[in-house]
Amino acid sequence: MGSPEDRLTLGIESSCDETAAAVLRGGRELLSNIVSTQIPVHQKFGGVVPEIASRRHIVNVMPVIDEALRQASVRLPEISQVAVTYGPGLVGALLVGVAAAKALAFALDVPLLGVNHLEGHIFANFLSFPDLRPPFVALVVSGGHTALVRVVDYNRFQLMGQTRDDAAGEAFDKVARVMGLPYPGGPQIDRLAAEGNPDAIDFPRALLENGNYEFSFSGLKSAVLNYLNEQKMKRREVSKPDVAASFQKAVIEVLAAKALEAMRETGYSALVLAGGVASNSALECRLRKMADERRFAFYYPSPVLCTDNAAMIACRGYYQSLAGHFSGLRLNAVPGLGLSNLEA
Ligand code: KG4
Ligand code: ZN
Repeated sequence: MGSPEDRLTLGIESSCDETAAAVLRGGRELLSNIVSTQIPVHQKFGGVVPEIASRRHIVNVMPVIDEALRQASVRLPEISQVAVTYGPGLVGALLVGVAAAKALAFALDVPLLGVNHLEGHIFANFLSFPDLRPPFVALVVSGGHTALVRVVDYNRFQLMGQTRDDAAGEAFDKVARVMGLPYPGGPQIDRLAAEGNPDAIDFPRALLENGNYEFSFSGLKSAVLNYLNEQKMKRREVSKPDVAASFQKAVIEVLAAKALEAMRETGYSALVLAGGVASNSALECRLRKMADERRFAFYYPSPVLCTDNAAMIACRGYYQSLAGHFSGLRLNAVPGLGLSNLEA
């Protein structure tokens, strides 16, 4: 397969509402990164409709791969290996990418790499920061997951804790929805919160005791809904910016406190943020301040690499290939795949 630095990895991602493909040379040199989003299609339903997502992926997957190859100026026979998200995500959506990747790997007679989407989010940071090396603590905050991970090496992770119920992004989306804001709610709350008072309403912060790396956001979500209902019943005017800012502050405080505790426990010198919620401006600001005060390094991916993309999948796949972690053509979608301890 030639030297690892010359290896061309084709990445494919279709776990939710983005059809994406990317070409990566070696572990860090991104040659193309194509994302075809379905957000406008799902917006009128207030969330992702799984059946529609699968159908759109089927229509989009080959044109997106073709465009990724074209922009990279790489021909299909030059591809060394194919990396694809096989979970977690919507089963019908995942199956489209997995089927396309298996067909290409078989036709080209190259290795196939099944990638955990959440690990992919962490690896997006290696593309934004070419000098970043493990070990570090990763705070993964996406639409479906919230977790703290000790990244010991490229293929050695330990899950420190995750959410017991809702993910941070899910809470953002649900709160936005009841406030009448369009899907996806995270960026809307982020924008609205900038105009509000974060101390206007005292929403609850769950599981804040030391040494506990589990998260819970469903109580906070219910507290916001109850607050909105109560104000409505009392015919009181609600300041949406204040609700957004107070809710956002409650989420960020918990994320920051637990990330800090994880930094203390591991003694590591770098904190890495990953997942769609990593593009939240107030979260980034809070963690950066904390990192400056406590003198540790803080990384978060550029906005295009924060949300779902195939570049991060190709990157994760590349490092799996270095450890010989290939998948066979029997690879299947695993919708409930979580983050688990990985000992290379
Ligand atoms: O990682 P991602 O693209 O998809 C999953 O793997 O889930 O994350 C999507 C989530 C959505 O819940 C979206 O509302 C949230 O990331 N998000 C944000 C922001 N941008 C995206 N949440 C808060 N603030 C943002 N600026
Ligand atoms: Zn994601």
